[in-house]
Amino acid sequence: MYKCSLILAAGQGKRIKSDLPKVLHKVAGKEMVNHVIDTMRKASIEDINVIIGKGAELVKEKTASRNISYSLQEEQLGTGHAVKCAIDFLKGKKGVVGVFAGDAPLIKSETVEKLFDLHVSGNNAATLLTSIVEDPTGYGRVVRNGDDVLKIVEHKDCNEEELKINEMNAAIYCFDIESLLNSLEKLSNDNNQGEYYLTDVIGILKEEGKKVGAIEIDYEETIGVNSRVQLAEAEEILRQRINLKHMENGVTIIDPRSTYIGDDVEIGKDTIIYPGNVIEGNTKIGEGVTLYPNSRIVNSIILNNVEIQSSVIIDSKIGESTTVGPFAYIRPESVIGDNARIGDFVEIKKSTIGNNTKVSHLTYIGDAKVGENCNFGCGTVVVNYDGKDKHTTVIGNNSFIGCNTNLVSPVKVEDNTYIAAGSTIVNDVKEGELAVARAKQRNIEGWVSKRKLTDKK
Ligand code: UD1
Ligand code: CA
Repeated sequence: MYKCSLILAAGQGKRIKSDLPKVLHKVAGKEMVNHVIDTMRKASIEDINVIIGKGAELVKEKTASRNISYSLQEEQLGTGHAVKCAIDFLKGKKGVVGVFAGDAPLIKSETVEKLFDLHVSGNNAATLLTSIVEDPTGYGRVVRNGDDVLKIVEHKDCNEEELKINEMNAAIYCFDIESLLNSLEKLSNDNNQGEYYLTDVIGILKEEGKKVGAIEIDYEETIGVNSRVQLAEAEEILRQRINLKHMENGVTIIDPRSTYIGDDVEIGKDTIIYPGNVIEGNTKIGEGVTLYPNSRIVNSIILNNVEIQSSVIIDSKIGESTTVGPFAYIRPESVIGDNARIGDFVEIKKSTIGNNTKVSHLTYIGDAKVGENCNFGCGTVVVNYDGKDKHTTVIGNNSFIGCNTNLVSPVKVEDNTYIAAGSTIVNDVKEGELAVARAKQRNIEGWVSKRKLTDKK
């Protein structure tokens, strides 16, 4: 059977008090709407249409990588109206459409699969997800007759009896496409909020004698984020889920409450994560890695047995058994080899560092290609910027760069070379050479007493 999904993401999000459209606020490092899209994909729903309105262009931009289509709801006249705006997407299709909210990122792919499966096997015209909650204030109530779902009544339209119902509508549904399209035409906005409610479709279908099913799920999965407080709640739940998954896969997380791992991060077994690490984006961490406290790692590849401490690594790759930090800053497009060492207060930018090369302290390397088995003395600076343009420095294998060296780019240092401490290198250094580029030391005997400087002490 053909399956597709609509994601409602056009609403204002007034209560979140933000210039950013609500569905673009992030939980676990990823926009809420993208969580919902990715969950759909995990549940094998390929054809996805997102209904956009407020901040439409930005929502499009942030979801661009996900290969989905869009419908525009220019004016936000309610959830039923939003679905109506997707008529062009639904028209002529036969099968099932799932309807999801872009502000409810905690729904699990297993639940989505179950919703579609039970909808199809039950031959339902509509199937909705519900949850029993102690305080259903604000939610639509599920009105039943015995086991039968009769309709949904929004909180603001409830009578006294209906207000007592504690089964809430999660606003996540499956519909038979043709049945949905027919009932959308019958929606009215004759209610307390003057909106076209999608929830009214349930009552309409029931009155037509069609079959409506309901599945009760854990409240946690249904949480919709309307405010910053709920955003933090969603973040906490998602973070726990992610950490649990990694621990079950064989990763040691010493304090899960202070470990922040993005939804798309992959981590190999026997990796140990100390508190205060933030691992974001499409980061892949190998096996047996030790992340000592307080690093931020973004969109990076960390190979097996690496050790990292109190450092920032962005869009880069770290080779096997290399150590990084404390206090290293590895900026985008850097590739560090195996068994290398990037020590304290070292900044690497858009550079390659070969295997076994040691850059132990207080050094800046930018726009450089560095070979294998090199040793950088303390305080080396690659002078890659002349005030106007950036230039490249190339350093071969087995080079020894003395302390406090400036390498003024563009410059080439060949294999098997030495540079004397304190040198400012502006010319290429050929294989086998020692380069010394500093003033010769001159000692002037008796200078201090001649100047009578000793008396003053
Ligand atoms: C909705 C349900 C309610 C349910 C609750 C669960 C309706 C009428 N009510 O209420 O029964 O208990 O969710 O969280 O459906 N949106 C649009 N266009 C619009 C209006 C909304 O795209 O014109 C989108 C929003 O961006 C949001 C989603 O639809 O992602 C839900 O809208 P919201 O206003 O938050 O509905 P609730 O009042 O929470
Ligand atoms: Ca909501």
